[in-house]
Amino acid sequence: MEIRRIHEQAPSPLDREENVFTSGEVFDIDLVDGEIKLTVRAVEPFSKAYDAAEEWGDEVESYGAFVNNGLVGKVELAPTWNELASIEHIVVAREFRGRGVATGLIDFAKSWALERQLKGVRLETQTNNVAACKVYFRNGFQVGGFDRFSYRTQAAVANETALYLYWFPEMVS
Ligand SMILES: CC(C)(COP(=O)(O)OP(=O)(O)OC[C@H]1O[C@@H](n2cnc3c(N)ncnc32)[C@H](O)[C@@H]1OP(=O)(O)O)[C@@H](O)C(=O)NCCC(=O)NCCS
Repeated sequence: MEIRRIHEQAPSPLDREENVFTSGEVFDIDLVDGEIKLTVRAVEPFSKAYDAAEEWGDEVESYGAFVNNGLVGKVELAPTWNELASIEHIVVAREFRGRGVATGLIDFAKSWALERQLKGVRLETQTNNVAACKVYFRNGFQVGGFDRFSYRTQAAVANETALYLYWFPEMVS
């Protein structure tokens, strides 16, 4: 697998048709001794599709994961005001999932951050994306916080809870 910069800003089929997942699990959140604790709960199977952003800000850089020169995964990275790298978007084509492509892109994001003297990596996900969260946790991310009202004004996702995950090089999970 090769990871290289993509300069094309328009959403690709990867950002649209492949930016979906099906699951039968969500996380419940509890506060235990001041720590955020996530517990998996089985639910009726559901599918979720992320919207592809039409435009990214000037500071966002896109990187593709290529196998035999075909685009199989993508990560969008941007520096933040608090000296972190933000993973704005990450997706892997369904056919290529479970092979470490996202893990490769996350490793790349960590290096991208450190090369720019940034102090860690952050991202926003949701409590209904258990599969993605597991990948992030396996890659050393921890929950910084959650927000029940982030998406309240957006009809399609109004009941979702945002989760904010962070990785710092010095953090031992
Ligand atoms: C979330 C997502 C990016 C993960 O991508 P991925 O490439 O499948 O992730 P990885 O392969 O790195 O890790 C997934 C699994 O493969 C396993 N894996 C990692 N490296 C592997 C390898 N070399 N060979 C086989 N399996 C491997 C991991 O242990 C992990 O196991 P799990 O299924 O028990 O969790 C992908 O599912 C996706 O695009 N989902 C839709 C969009 C989305 O949800 N984006 C995130 C929004 S916050």
